[in-house]
Amino acid sequence: MKILELERVESGYGAVAVLRQVSLHVNVGEIVTLIGANGAGKSTLLMTLFGQPRAVGGRILLDGVDITQRATHQLAGLGMALVPEGRRIFPGMTVAENLAMGAVSVPEVAAPEVARVLERVLGLFPILDERAGQRAGTLSGGEQQMLAIGRAMMSRPRVLLLDEPSLGLAPLVIQKIFAVLREIAAEGTTLFLVEQNANQALRLANRGYVLVNGEIRMEGSGEALLADPEVRRAYLGGH
Ligand SMILES: Nc1ncnc2c1ncn2[C@@H]1O[C@H](COP(=O)(O)OP(=O)(O)OP(=O)(O)O)[C@@H](O)[C@H]1O
Ligand SMILES: [Mg+2]
Repeated sequence: MKILELERVESGYGAVAVLRQVSLHVNVGEIVTLIGANGAGKSTLLMTLFGQPRAVGGRILLDGVDITQRATHQLAGLGMALVPEGRRIFPGMTVAENLAMGAVSVPEVAAPEVARVLERVLGLFPILDERAGQRAGTLSGGEQQMLAIGRAMMSRPRVLLLDEPSLGLAPLVIQKIFAVLREIAAEGTTLFLVEQNANQALRLANRGYVLVNGEIRMEGSGEALLADPEVRRAYLGGH
């Protein structure tokens, strides 16, 4: 069953077209990745799901319902959460305050439920528990990424969208974060991540798509794409 589907989606910035007839889907419970080079349109695709920028062509379906024209504030409550590029945590606020902000976007969540979700998030990232009272700006890059993921999980998304979670992080830290993403997926949250780090992303994902200049160039299982000569040459350093 498809949780998220894009049908020939077009979007961009004013006269600048970025996404060209992008069609892809994410099934319930899957981990799907979209890989693409710098400037391919990965972030634009994720932002378009939230209506900023708005799709100017095609359709976006969540649970089979057309959400293409929904207002951005309505979309947060429908079960999608985004971990933005560059993490965008609140550096002057504590770790605990940042996590609490993640629950704010879902006002109908009752207080006991928030406490339960927080416990689960801290279980996934014990370091955030240790650093609960610390200002978020003083965390390492990896810890800030964990906080950004934790904050998104506080809204109990059914589908978690991640924009380059591995960006700028050391290999060991990336492994740790991807292990938690695997755990989050195993517990039933659907994952859609965009990445320049094709190697790690395709290893994690059940399926993947390759975005080139705003167009879907290839799709396949993570394994098939990892083995594809063109993907290897363009995204895996030719090894
Ligand atoms: N706010 C904006 N206004 C105008 N053009 C933009 C804007 N944001 C992005 N673009 C352009 O849209 C294209 C796609 O950018 P986008 O950020 O979606 O790519 P990306 O795949 O996420 O790249 P990266 O890997 O560097 O994050 C680029 O040509 C970029 O210059
Ligand atoms: Mg980007």
